[in-house]
Amino acid sequence: MKKIVVLSGAGISAESGLATFRDSGGLWEGHDVMEVASIEGWRRNPSVVLDFYNKRRKQAAQAQPNEAHLAVARLEKKFDVVVITQNVDNLHEKAGSTKVIHLHGELNKARSSIDESLIYDIKDREIHIGDKCGKGSQLRPHIVWFGEMVPMMEIAAAESAEADIYLVIGTSLVVYPAAGLLDYVPVDSPIYVINPERTQVPARRDVRYITEKAAKGTSELVEQMLN
Ligand code: OAD
Repeated sequence: MKKIVVLSGAGISAESGLATFRDSGGLWEGHDVMEVASIEGWRRNPSVVLDFYNKRRKQAAQAQPNEAHLAVARLEKKFDVVVITQNVDNLHEKAGSTKVIHLHGELNKARSSIDESLIYDIKDREIHIGDKCGKGSQLRPHIVWFGEMVPMMEIAAAESAEADIYLVIGTSLVVYPAAGLLDYVPVDSPIYVINPERTQVPARRDVRYITEKAAKGTSELVEQMLN
């Protein structure tokens, strides 16, 4: 069975009503990204950060997967599929994908602020100042912020290195180390890039650009791959 690895970003969830990071004038839902998505921002003002993610969690819980997430899930009929997503929503899982690696964490989980292995499933519940982990420290969103390590990188790189076909959907490819995953894709494996804007994959032979929104671009490509 051929292996397809999908690298997705905020653009795949745009048609489900969730805002991307860089399409809104540098602000994410009205906030400077570094204010709400960095370890410094958390240290400076944890209640602003908690409030921000409480809102994102509610919004994501109400969102439904779109045709792009559903098409990616359908690929499992014929291929061994691994999804590596930079997104913190769970729309790939809701669509039915069974192997999803969240590079930047998950909104529906909380974790200890002193022990990153202490992770709690909180579904769509809020986190407040004073909510504690089992070791007595403040709970925080299970999100990888700027300034933090990306613990899933090693696994994601190993999966990328095994891809027969690589799909890049709805990501600006400007955030590292995630964008560096493309360097692990075997040189003979084609890379398809689905994005209405032109993004650049450096120094690759076989890159096929599909200049469409995720829902249309992905469902058409998946249809071809399954037939
Ligand atoms: P970005 O906001 O940087 O990029 C979104 C991309 O989606 C852009 O290239 C858009 O052109 C594209 N796009 C917009 N609408 C689309 C649609 N309907 N279909 C397909 N593509 C569309 O988001 P990411 O690349 O995901 O990290 O950003 C990477 C990381 O930076 C995020 O995970 C986040 C952020 O800061 C953290 O929060 C740690």
